[in-house]
Amino acid sequence: MRDMQPEDVPGQGTPHVVRYFDGSARVVITTEHETLFPTGELIVSQTDLDGIITMCNEAFVRMSGYSREQLLGAPHSILRHPDMPRAAFADLWTTISDGKRWSGYVKNLRRDGGFYWVYATVIPKIRGGEIVGHTSVRRQPSRTKVAAAEQLYVTMRRDEAAPAAAEVTS
Ligand SMILES: Cc1cc2nc3c(=O)[nH]c(=O)nc-3n(C[C@H](O)[C@H](O)[C@H](O)COP(=O)(O)O)c2cc1C
Repeated sequence: MRDMQPEDVPGQGTPHVVRYFDGSARVVITTEHETLFPTGELIVSQTDLDGIITMCNEAFVRMSGYSREQLLGAPHSILRHPDMPRAAFADLWTTISDGKRWSGYVKNLRRDGGFYWVYATVIPKIRGGEIVGHTSVRRQPSRTKVAAAEQLYVTMRRDEAAPAAAEVTS
């Protein structure tokens, strides 16, 4: 995935290096601009077994800020926001790889550096007893739950950063 550039973002953003599960990294630039979940809509996508986007609806395209062409074939982590703890996605993948559905609050990164919160349910697609892909349906999140998730994720991110910090200082 390409690094975000200052011109992708309106005004002044904050750069971060996001490290992905496979060891790769990408520079993203975030802003504090939130796009609210569109009332009465669902944001839907499907992926293959590796989390590569194979289908997405119009609300998904609109909320992400990317074109459909940019999204199809891209890894779902294109939406990964640096405020999301790694553990949330580790839990997601462990759950769905076991054939179970996973639900949780996710802060997603837009192409323009802004963000949007969703309440996501990820469902493994099972055919003939085999997992062949995954579907995610996102609903409008409760603002109270978003506020709670925001706090929880700050703590989780701090804990995830702690071992690395300890290594540097020891
Ligand atoms: C069906 C499905 C939908 C997903 N939706 C999102 C999403 O909306 N935002 C997101 O950051 N990650 C989503 N993920 C998780 C990503 O695949 C990925 O695990 C995550 O962005 C963290 O990146 P990493 O695992 O490469 O570190 C989804 C995964 C699946 C299987």
